[in-house]
Amino acid sequence: MQDYHEFLDEVLIPDDVLQKRIAELGAEISRDYKGKDLLLVCILRGGVVFLTDLMRHISVPHSIDFMAVSSYGVGVRQHNAQSRITLDLNTDIINRNVLLVEDIVDSGYTIKAVLDFLSTRHPKSLRVCTLLDKAERRKINVPIHYRGFTIPDKFVFGYGLDIDEYYRNLPFIGVLSKEHYCPEA
Ligand code: IMP
Ligand code: MG
Repeated sequence: MQDYHEFLDEVLIPDDVLQKRIAELGAEISRDYKGKDLLLVCILRGGVVFLTDLMRHISVPHSIDFMAVSSYGVGVRQHNAQSRITLDLNTDIINRNVLLVEDIVDSGYTIKAVLDFLSTRHPKSLRVCTLLDKAERRKINVPIHYRGFTIPDKFVFGYGLDIDEYYRNLPFIGVLSKEHYCPEA
């Protein structure tokens, strides 16, 4: 795999801006869940970098667990209405306050599938925290309670988000250059 510079058009959200906003989200979540029990559910794999930074800004006692979802469409840029849960929780969520931690909400199908799946287990509350919201691409209405940034309709990578599974480690959110953008991939 080439160096990431090959794919980078521009840095959309630099490291320091991400970290400042994540600290604000952590403070807001800490206020809202004060005195309540909290379970953070990270959606793998994109949400994992965000989770580990966010949780260190959440001052209320909480536990974490992980889920994975895959779209039937092959390739990172194709999403459709059929999402499949490929990794389930290890935690019983009945009567628990569940907060989903996601990297990006695009069409909304992924988060909708997770919300539908988990709500049948009767959590006390079920909310969504996403770092990025590509709002203009939304296909179905989904509730977002905590949002880091609303971003334009561009393919982004870094800070958990991948290009064909690479570059999740980058500390910033970058925009994929147009010569590499391939919506049908
Ligand atoms: P949705 O189901 O269309 O809302 O898509 C959500 C999932 O698509 C995210 O969890 C990401 O894995 C992936 N995704 C959507 N947009 C991007 C992007 O710009 N870069 C990388 N992954 C993306
Ligand atoms: Mg993802």
